[in-house]
Amino acid sequence: MHDLAKIVMVRIEALGKISDEEGKLTRTFCSSAMRRGNNLVASWMREAGMDVRKDAIGNVIGYYPAKESPKSKVQSPKSSERMLLLGSHLDTVRDAGKFDGPLGVLVAIACVQHLHDTGTRLPFAIEVAGFADEEGVRYQSTYLGSRALAGIFNLKDLNRLDANGIAMAEAIRSFGGNPDALSAAKLDRKKLLGYVEVHIEQGPILEERNLSVAIVSAISGQARYECSFFGRAGHAGTVPMKMRSDALCAAAEFVLAVEHCAKSRPGLVATVGRIEALPGASNVIPGKVTLTLDVRHAEDSVRNRAGVRLKQQAMQIAKRRKIQARVEMRHEAKSIMCDRRFSRMLDDIVKRHQGKSLLLPSGAGHDAVAMAAITPVAMLFVRCKGGVSHHPDESVSVKDVRMAIVVMNDFLRELGRKHQ
Ligand code: GLV
Ligand code: MN
Ligand code: MN
Repeated sequence: MHDLAKIVMVRIEALGKISDEEGKLTRTFCSSAMRRGNNLVASWMREAGMDVRKDAIGNVIGYYPAKESPKSKVQSPKSSERMLLLGSHLDTVRDAGKFDGPLGVLVAIACVQHLHDTGTRLPFAIEVAGFADEEGVRYQSTYLGSRALAGIFNLKDLNRLDANGIAMAEAIRSFGGNPDALSAAKLDRKKLLGYVEVHIEQGPILEERNLSVAIVSAISGQARYECSFFGRAGHAGTVPMKMRSDALCAAAEFVLAVEHCAKSRPGLVATVGRIEALPGASNVIPGKVTLTLDVRHAEDSVRNRAGVRLKQQAMQIAKRRKIQARVEMRHEAKSIMCDRRFSRMLDDIVKRHQGKSLLLPSGAGHDAVAMAAITPVAMLFVRCKGGVSHHPDESVSVKDVRMAIVVMNDFLRELGRKHQ
């Protein structure tokens, strides 16, 4: 039998070359790279014995029927069949690493490949989702793909514009999706047994403990804001310093206030990841600055209080400098707990293969957050080198991928036994 972990690694490399930007990996929602990535993933799903569909939002989904289904010619899930959803996302951040997202999709396909190769059907169907957007790079709203599947997509988001002024609805349409029929993408929660996602840890703990995998206990909530400072543009050589209304100086003060606020509370993290100063010329005083603010904490109340406080601080900075400011929440996801039953099963399996097991909270967001709205979720983290992620240096060993496949294979078999 072929080494599925090695196949996953080869596929990670192949997907890592599919990008919207020359010389770096960037694959955003409904882009041409996303289309090419989806097609490649669809071909691997078919190889693993799955029927493939592309849904109204742009997710690619493979379907592997349950035991009692006819062996082939199954185009869509049978109406009475229970189903377990596996997967992760296929979009990336800008200048990304190769593993964040795709690893979970490819490990899931490898597990189905194993079932297919051994002629095994489980008492429930398996679907593998390659979600179209988890990172929220293009529209500043995360989990677009999994929200559509969970039936919690906010239709107002369809009016959001990307950096080139393209509305989300238009982007979905030109990708081949259907923004008017997003409810068709929704999964039937009555059929769903749960959602299980494999993902790189994106932190250093597994490496510190010399372990390949860990089980996720909970996923931190997050809020994303768009903050704008409105000053007055002017000549960099002629406007005296005391007469200026420099929007970028106000923004700079705010960025440091964000850092100070996050450092003052254990577990709180806050990031200004993008900043734009307009009109953007070296000899013009910045008249308008827009920046993104990302705030996270495992406890939603702490995160909420930090958001309120930072908004007040933006207003105070602007007032003191006699300019205007605006802070708008663009996206919010609450913290979620992973399912105890699934996590306990994973825990036993991991102990068996790894000698010991570890429960870790996730500071990063995952599609499991959206799926938790309708079904029990669980996650398996895989060690990544130096804890590095959202960076081209992201790296995972084939040994750890093998461990993830072994654990997930056992999980599927045991869940199958429980549902016999
Ligand atoms: C996704 O990677 C996020 O946590 O922002
Ligand atoms: Mn990510
Ligand atoms: Mn991710």
